[in-house]
Amino acid sequence: MNETQSEPTVGEMAARQPGTTRIFERFGIDYCCHGRHTLEAACASAGVEPSTVRGALAELAAQPAPPAVDWTAQPLDALVDHLLAKHHAFTRDELARIAALGAKVVNAHGAKHPEVAPLRELARELEADLLPHLMKEERVLFPYVRSLAAGEPAQAPFGSVAMPVRMMDREHEAVGVILAALRERTGGYAAPADACPTWRAWYDALHALEQDLHQHIHLESNVLFPRALEAERAVFGTG
Ligand SMILES: [Fe+2]
Ligand SMILES: [Fe+2]
Repeated sequence: MNETQSEPTVGEMAARQPGTTRIFERFGIDYCCHGRHTLEAACASAGVEPSTVRGALAELAAQPAPPAVDWTAQPLDALVDHLLAKHHAFTRDELARIAALGAKVVNAHGAKHPEVAPLRELARELEADLLPHLMKEERVLFPYVRSLAAGEPAQAPFGSVAMPVRMMDREHEAVGVILAALRERTGGYAAPADACPTWRAWYDALHALEQDLHQHIHLESNVLFPRALEAERAVFGTG
């Protein structure tokens, strides 16, 4: 939850001004899986000085705004389309590629480098969490959100969209824990100096998936889900 009523959360800051996510990434600030923290709390978790981050944010604000899409103002249907076409497709493709690269690295280097097999296990955990998660969003939550956006809510196997939203948020947090472990155990995806090209490609792919998942989870937890709850209240005239 938001620690104070007056200060925006990092998730809200990222939703309002998409360019801030680049600053948050640079300082290791978690704006997606733990986006409900204030900047002060998020900086404490990341071990950075709030004043340093505020300085970088002020510099960003002084620059002309990049042509980023403001998903808080686009139709919900378009946001769902974007999540599917950009992030769900990328996640599936990259998980398959990461599994193949990880198998090659473990086969070729596992005997001399005992650290790679546990890393492949973590990547497998990520895949085992993400594939059913994507399916639940695609088959249950997103179609219901589309029906809400159209003002004609479909029959749903849950009382309120708050129920699947809570479940998806919990799953996002679990993904965040695995991503943090991967980052820590790879030293920030830094392959050893003598690593072969396949090993480097494996770490690069894991890093790119991490970056994409941060944006993906941010757009769901901080933008789509609050807007879906709001659309449900509007359709049913509650709240
Ligand atoms: Fe998703
Ligand atoms: Fe998700």
